[in-house]
Amino acid sequence: MTELMLPLLEKAAPDARVITVSSGGMYTAPLNKDLQYTSGKFDGVEQYGRNKRVQVALTEKWAEMHKDKGIGFYSMHPGWAETPGVAKSLPAFSKSLSGKLRSSEEGADTVIWLALQPKEKLVSGAFYFDRAEAPKHLKFAGTGGSHAAIDSIVDDLRSLSALSS
Ligand SMILES: NC(=O)c1ccc[n+]([C@@H]2O[C@H](COP(=O)([O-])OP(=O)(O)OC[C@H]3O[C@@H](n4cnc5c(N)ncnc54)[C@H](OP(=O)(O)O)[C@@H]3O)[C@@H](O)[C@H]2O)c1
Repeated sequence: MTELMLPLLEKAAPDARVITVSSGGMYTAPLNKDLQYTSGKFDGVEQYGRNKRVQVALTEKWAEMHKDKGIGFYSMHPGWAETPGVAKSLPAFSKSLSGKLRSSEEGADTVIWLALQPKEKLVSGAFYFDRAEAPKHLKFAGTGGSHAAIDSIVDDLRSLSALSS
């Protein structure tokens, strides 16, 4: 969908932005080429982390591919927030942390901040958390280096969505 919007984004340059809401859940997941989880027993939480990792790596790739077009690409983690999605998909987590999670508004804070900051203050391709750039990999998580697989994932995503490469 983002790639289909590129002509419109180019029209909005030099202040066009794509802000992708990823998650801290990606920290445990290296980039994995098995987008449809064909190998192993399906685990929804694991697949969530994998998809969120793809978003971070895709953002990095888009920033590199479109660096001279006046479009900024950013991924971010909103923090853990009490939302209908969390209540439905992670009921035990949601119940045990009830009242301690962020509100939806607090979760949206960095998205809005990324939309409004002067672009010169932001780094295209970077990952953000709480209004600051954050690492894409944690020490000893075994995810570093996995982004090398992004080119073949981009090809697969284009083919799945019938986009030409
Ligand atoms: N909540 C957290 O703690 C947390 C933590 C880390 C990352 N995130 C990320 O934050 C984002 C929002 O999460 P959430 O917890 O707010 O989820 P949510 O409560 O399930 O809300 C998702 C929202 O997306 C809309 N939506 C879903 N599919 C759509 C589509 N195809 N087109 C247009 N709108 C669509 C839904 O609209 P309808 O209500 O109309 O279906 C809903 O408003 C997700 O990307 C999630 O991975 C959340």
